[in-house]
Amino acid sequence: MIRKSLVLGIASLLLLTSGYLGISSGAKDAGGIPAEKVADMLHAVIESNRTFYTEHVVERMQAKGAAVASENWRSEKTLPLPAQFLQESARLSVNSKAKVGYKLISLWPINKQNGAKSDAEQRGLTATQQNPDRPHTEVVMNGADAYLMAIYADRAVSQACIGCHNAHQDSPRHDFKQNDVMGAIMIMVPLKL
Ligand code: HEC
Repeated sequence: MIRKSLVLGIASLLLLTSGYLGISSGAKDAGGIPAEKVADMLHAVIESNRTFYTEHVVERMQAKGAAVASENWRSEKTLPLPAQFLQESARLSVNSKAKVGYKLISLWPINKQNGAKSDAEQRGLTATQQNPDRPHTEVVMNGADAYLMAIYADRAVSQACIGCHNAHQDSPRHDFKQNDVMGAIMIMVPLKL
C-alpha cells in the first residue's frame, strides 16, 4: 500500500514537473535557444551595425565633406541619421520570414511614433531608466502570436547624441547629459517559428 502510493506520488510528481518544464520552455523558447539569449544576440548585432554606420559612414563622410546626414534624407539626398538607419532596416526585417522586430523608443521621443505604444513598453522604458544595466523582458501577445519583448537601455554615448536631441525643436526634453538613458532598443522575438 505504502509502496503503491509512493510510486503514484513519484509518477504524479514527474508528470507535474514535465508539465511545468513544458510550459516554461514553450513560453520562453525560440527553437531550442532561450528567447532571452536570442534577443541578446540580436541586440549585439543591431548595436554593432549602428556603431559602424555612425563612425565609418556618417562621421567619415562628414569629415571628408563628401556627404552629410540629415533627417529629411530622402528629399535632401543626404545620408539617413543613425536612428533612421536603424528604424528603416527594422522595417525590412519585420517583413522577413523570421518576423523579428526592433525599434528605438523613448519616454521623450523626437518622433511621436517612437513613444510607448503599450503598458508593456511603458513598463520596459521605466524599468531600464531605473536599472540601465539589465534588460527588461516580458512575454506579450500580438494578435494570436506570443513574443518575447526585450527592452535595452539606449544611452547618450557621445556629445553628438545630446547635442542633436537637446537642440531639436520636436524633442520634449532639452537637458540630456552624457551617459544619460535617452530611450531604449526594443526587440521582439517570436516564440513560435
Ligand atoms: C543629428 C541628430 C541626431 C543625433 C546625432 C542623434 N539622434 Fe537620436 N534621433 C534623432 C531624430 C531626428 C530621431 C527621430 C527619428 C525618427 O523619425 O524615427 C531620433 C530618434 C532617437 C531615438 C528614438 C526616440 C525619439 O527620440 O524619437 C532614440 C532612443 C535616440 N534617437 C537616441 C540617440 C542616441 C543614443 C544617439 C547617440 C548615439 C542619437 N540618438 C544621436 C536625431 C539624432
